[in-house]
Amino acid sequence: MTVQFKPAETFRDTFTYGKSPEDILRFPFPFPEDEYMYSVNIEPHVRGGPTAAFQAAFDIDEHYIAECRERERVLKEDPKRCQVLPHMMAAEWDSLELIMESLAQDYPEHFSLTKAGDLWTWVNRPLNIHQSFTFGKAETLPCGPFEYITRQAQGDFTLQDQRDDNLFVDGGMVTTQADWSLEFDIGMSFHEWHGPVPLAHEKGVFDRALKYLLRLQCGQPVRRLNWTMTVNPRLDTSPENYPVWGPDKASVTPDNVAEKVHLRVELQTLYRLPRSNAILFGIRCYLTSVADIARVPKWRRRLHRVLRDLHPDIAAYKGLPRFRQTVLDYLAPLDDGEPTSKGI
Ligand code: HEM
Repeated sequence: MTVQFKPAETFRDTFTYGKSPEDILRFPFPFPEDEYMYSVNIEPHVRGGPTAAFQAAFDIDEHYIAECRERERVLKEDPKRCQVLPHMMAAEWDSLELIMESLAQDYPEHFSLTKAGDLWTWVNRPLNIHQSFTFGKAETLPCGPFEYITRQAQGDFTLQDQRDDNLFVDGGMVTTQADWSLEFDIGMSFHEWHGPVPLAHEKGVFDRALKYLLRLQCGQPVRRLNWTMTVNPRLDTSPENYPVWGPDKASVTPDNVAEKVHLRVELQTLYRLPRSNAILFGIRCYLTSVADIARVPKWRRRLHRVLRDLHPDIAAYKGLPRFRQTVLDYLAPLDDGEPTSKGI
């Protein structure tokens, strides 16, 4: 079925964001079990999976146009949300090629890419873009190749350089993040940028994940799911903007909790890039209100149990304590106590 875009949606101020029934069912629900703990939950990123969100290399949904417009607004206010260090130019072109080819293959009705040697023509119908350029010549595009293509994709992206048996976050387009800052992290190594995460370092999660990623092969991308909760369907929950969204946490009441609080899921994908040997990390964000979660019996049972038993250090790190009990009070009567089966 062809997706119906909703270009007028907003993710701030009026918050007109909402999900169609089809969009709720394609939500990548993140909990395979009734309890949650950090782990190296990495699997091959092959097309196919529990919902339609896993069908494409880079998923496009009904919020595509509105999310690209939101990105444009954030970049206008704060251009530093997109930064790439100068030695990453080959990785920029690798990313442009990968994203353009993938979108054109997965969504031929919306995107097309034609090549005559190095002269490429890119057509993006939803955003009404028709661009000819010379691959490898940045001056033939309106901005750098990484910024150019990530302005036309949903979700955030970072670029990791691999050297000294480590990964360094040497670039990114980060406008829809869950409370971390590219400006602060840029240039950091894998363990440094994961510094604030509780419990996972002691459990060896980051040592194992780094070892795995250093061996990531070209053409064999992987993915993982991460989650948190956000008050209001707000994409930009950056530290830079904390004064704007932080106070929202105090606005949750028993009357508005189901509509206001959203489960925020990141479908994270990792690609080895062919020329630069860098890694492209995609962080595709999905927001679903607790009210919409509650429409699916398995999801509401599971979310209730995960939140109820969540380790307090993880709850604090994710910024949940202010409204967690209000969400639990809403979900508890909806949990019929039935056992759930393993899997999403
Ligand atoms: C959190 C980046 C890969 C596991 C984070 C944070 C950042 C980040 C910026 C937030 C840290 C903060 O609070 O400031 C990245 C990048 C990756 C990557 C750029 C690309 C290589 C991975 C992988 C794993 C992982 C492969 C697998 C175990 C986690 C976990 C958290 C986290 C468990 C805590 C999330 C939460 O509780 O909400 N990551 N990460 N990351 N990352 Fe990664």
